[in-house]
Amino acid sequence: DDGILYMATNAAFPPYEYKEGDNFAGIDVEIATEIAKKLGMELQIADVEFGSIIGGVSTGKYDIGMAGMTVTEERKQSVNFSNTYATGIQVIIVKDGSSITSLDDIFVFNDEGDPTALKNTDIKVGVQQDTTGDIYSSDAIKKWGFNDLADDGSTTTDRVVRFKTGAEAVAALKSGKVDCVIIDNEPAKSFVAANEGIHILAGDNEYAVEDYAICVDKGNTELLDKINKALDELKADGTIDGIINKYIPKDGGAQ
Ligand code: ARG
Repeated sequence: DDGILYMATNAAFPPYEYKEGDNFAGIDVEIATEIAKKLGMELQIADVEFGSIIGGVSTGKYDIGMAGMTVTEERKQSVNFSNTYATGIQVIIVKDGSSITSLDDIFVFNDEGDPTALKNTDIKVGVQQDTTGDIYSSDAIKKWGFNDLADDGSTTTDRVVRFKTGAEAVAALKSGKVDCVIIDNEPAKSFVAANEGIHILAGDNEYAVEDYAICVDKGNTELLDKINKALDELKADGTIDGIINKYIPKDGGAQ
């Protein structure tokens, strides 16, 4: 009501959101700015832990959550999602020369090609806490029967090591604390470009294609409708494509 659109994000996820000095930059930041303009509101961004975005939105602390956030059935229990504006794929980063050369070294797959468990090896997986990469790995480890996730979600056997940011997970990969990092493809490319000696595992990651959308409190369908209308217009007039292409050049190998 105060004319401000409060957005929660986790600004350690280039090219979707990151800090440039004191300023926020990235695809989500620019799309949100355009949406706020259409709504006649001023955008205000809060940089919080990824895992506290949904709670903050559903309790009304923030109006929207926008953080390269994947639409999942579980999250839909707590918040509504807008129409999707981008796609992500979970990929795996390893050190050059790693003995991990394919997804089969990490996961056990079922006949449908979905990962059903972490392989029973001592490979340590690094993830950003509460992201889908975390959920896949932690679910997989539970299915494997290790029963080693404490109530607070922390792992007691270190098979899945959870970090506050993707950058911290990548630092742990470089220093050998974890053997691979599972994270969305575009942030993965940014981290690989910014760090020597690591690469994205080639292979078929189609099992982990995800839709990104904006989350809004379930009670606030009026705002959701306005956001969807704004998104539709921004898609139709090429604004969203323009923003995405600026950060992810088509010839840069975007998936
Ligand atoms: N797409 C993944 C998810 O929704 C990761 C998003 C992480 N975003 C961030 N801004 N740190 O779980």
